[in-house]
Amino acid sequence: MRSHYCGTIDAGFIDQTITLCGWVQRRRDHGGVIFVDLRDRTGLIQVVFDPDRAEMFTEAERLRSEYVLRIAGRVRARPEGTINPEMPTGEIEVLASELEVLNAAETPPIQIDEYHADVNEELRLRYRYLDLRRPEMQQRLRTRAQVTSRLRRFLDEQGFLDIETPILTKSTPEGARDYLVPSRVHPGEFYALPQSPQLFKQLLMMSGMDRYYQIARCFRDEDLRADRQPEFTQLDIEASFIDEAELTGLMEQMVRELFRTVLDTELPDPFPRLTYDEAMQRFGSDRPDLRVPLELVDLKDLMKEVEFKVFATPAQDPDGRVAALRVPGGAKLSRKEIDDYTKYVGIFGARGLAYIKVNDWAGKNREGLQSPILKNLTDAAIDGVMARTGAVDGDLIFFGADKARVVNEALGALRVKLGHDRGLAQDGWHPVWVVDFPMFDQDPKTGHWQALHHPFTAPREDQLDLLESDPGACKSRAYDLVLNGTELGGGSIRIHREDVQRQIFSLLRISEEDANDRFGFLLTALKYGCPPHGGIAFGLDRLVMQMTASSSIRDVMAFPKTQAASCPLTGAPASVDQGQLKELALRLRSST
Ligand code: AMO
Ligand code: AMP
Repeated sequence: MRSHYCGTIDAGFIDQTITLCGWVQRRRDHGGVIFVDLRDRTGLIQVVFDPDRAEMFTEAERLRSEYVLRIAGRVRARPEGTINPEMPTGEIEVLASELEVLNAAETPPIQIDEYHADVNEELRLRYRYLDLRRPEMQQRLRTRAQVTSRLRRFLDEQGFLDIETPILTKSTPEGARDYLVPSRVHPGEFYALPQSPQLFKQLLMMSGMDRYYQIARCFRDEDLRADRQPEFTQLDIEASFIDEAELTGLMEQMVRELFRTVLDTELPDPFPRLTYDEAMQRFGSDRPDLRVPLELVDLKDLMKEVEFKVFATPAQDPDGRVAALRVPGGAKLSRKEIDDYTKYVGIFGARGLAYIKVNDWAGKNREGLQSPILKNLTDAAIDGVMARTGAVDGDLIFFGADKARVVNEALGALRVKLGHDRGLAQDGWHPVWVVDFPMFDQDPKTGHWQALHHPFTAPREDQLDLLESDPGACKSRAYDLVLNGTELGGGSIRIHREDVQRQIFSLLRISEEDANDRFGFLLTALKYGCPPHGGIAFGLDRLVMQMTASSSIRDVMAFPKTQAASCPLTGAPASVDQGQLKELALRLRSST
C-alpha cells in the first residue's frame, strides 16, 4: 500500500513520487491551500493539497484529525522561510497527487497532537490505543522492544535456551498473594498463576538444560505502587555449574552491552559491590541510590551514657540504632522545611527528627551550634558527633534514634529525598550489586524467621552450622542488582541438597507434611541428581522504566492495570454469569 514511512523522508527524496499511509495529525487551511500533517510510527510529514486538483481538494477539506489516509505525491523542497528545523522532515513537503481516505475518525476524547501532562490517566487507559499513538508512548515501547531483542541476542549467544513454563500452575512463594484460577475439571480445586517461574527453572536445571532464560509474565496480588503491577515481566535466568562470581559477572556484561547498544552509555566495569551490612550501615537501605553522596554515620556507642532518653534507650538496645545524617549547607533549612522533613520520616515510623545546625563551630565551638537537643548532650557526645560526621560551618546534622529497622527506613528514605530536593544527587547511572544478605529476618510481631529472598536460596557453605545455632547470623548466597535506588533484579545460588532444603523449610516452620504437600515435587527431584545451580530475575518493566526515564511503570507497558488493579479499556475484572460459575462449581457469597 505504501512505498515509504512518513518520518523517513528528507531532502534526498526531492522530485521522487512516493506513497504514504498514516493518520491526520492536523489539517490547516491557508489561503486556498490545505496542509495536512500526516503521522505514522516514524514521525510526521507535511502534505500539501493544491486547489488545482479540484476534486481531491474538496475531499481534503473534509479531512479531520485521526482520519486514516493513503496519499501519493511528489516530494519537493519547502519554500524559503517555511523550513522547520525542529522536524526531521522539516525541509520538505509532499505535493499530493492522489488521496484515498481509508477510514474516518470521530473526534478523539484525548488529544494526540498536543499532550498535556494533566490528562486523566483513567481516560488515557480507557482509550489506550489513542494514548499509544503519541510519540512518547511509541518511543517507550520501541525502546522496550529493542531491550528485549538485545537481551535475547546476548543470552542466545551465551548458550541460554528460551524455554516456556506453565501459567496455570501451583503456588510459587515470592511473598505476595496468588491469583487463583478455578478448575472446571477438578471442582473445588484451583490453579495459581506463577509469582515467578522459580521452581520450574530449577527443575529445568535438574533436567540438564544447563542454561535457561525466559521473558516470563509473573502475577502477584499485592498493593500497587509506581513501580509495581499485578502482572509484570521478568527476564528470568538460571544456569548450572556456576557460582556467584561467574553469574553476576555474566549478568553485568549483559547489562553493560544493553546500555551501550540501546543508550550509547558506558556503565562501570566491574559494577561496585556492597555487602548488605555495609549498605544498611551507610545508606540505611539494601537498594541504595548511589547518586546521592550523603551517608549515615553511627553514633550508638557515643549515646549510651547521655541523659537524653530518646538517644540513650536505643543506644542501649541490641536492636536499636542511633545515627546521624550530615546535610552539607543544611544550616539554611527553615523551620518549616525541617518540620516537613520531620513529617516525612514519620511515614516510616520515626517519632521525631532531632537536628543540630552548625552555625559557627570553628569560632565558638558548642556555643556556635543551634539545636533543641543541645542541652541534653555531653561535650564528649557533641565532639564525637562533629568528628564522625565531619560537619563544618553551614551544615546541618539530622538524627535518628529507634529500633534499627525504623532508623534505617526513615534516614534511608530521608537521605534520598534530601539528596534530590537539595540538588546533591549526581547524574548518570550508578549500578551496584548488594551481596551477603542474611538468610532470614525475624517477623517483628511473631519473632518467627522468614526467608529474606525465597526459601530455595542457598546458605553460605561455610555457615551451614549456623542454621542450627544462630539462624539470624547466617548469610545467604543471594545478590541483588540495584540501579539508582531501584532494585532491578535479584537472584541467588540455590539449595541443591534435599536435606538442606528440608532444614530450611523446617526453620521457616513449614511442617514436613506441608512441605511435602506444597513442594513435594521439588524435594523428590532433588533426590535424583540435582546439579549446583543459580540464577536471577530482572524486572523488565523496571529496567525499561529507568532506561526511558519514565516515572510510572504503566508508561512502559502497552496495556497496564490501574492502581486498583483494573483495566479501564476492557473493564477487567468483571463479573461472570451464573452458568459459568456453576460449571466451575463456584457460588458467590454476598460481600456483606
Ligand atoms: P524477585 O521477587 O526479587 O525475585 O523479582 C525479581 C524482580 O522482579 C521485579 N518485580 C516487579 N516488577 C514489577 N511489578 C512487581 N509487582 C514486581 N515484583 C517484582 C523486581 C525484582 O527485582 N524468582 C526470583 C528470582 C530468582 O531468585 O532468580 C524472583 O522472582 O525488579
Ligand atoms: P522531645 O524530647 O520529644 O521534644 O524531642 C526533642 C527532639 O528530638 C525533637 O527535635 C524531636 O524531633 C527529636 N526526636 C524525638 N524522638 C526522636 C527519635 N526517635 N529520633 C530522632 N529524633 C527524635
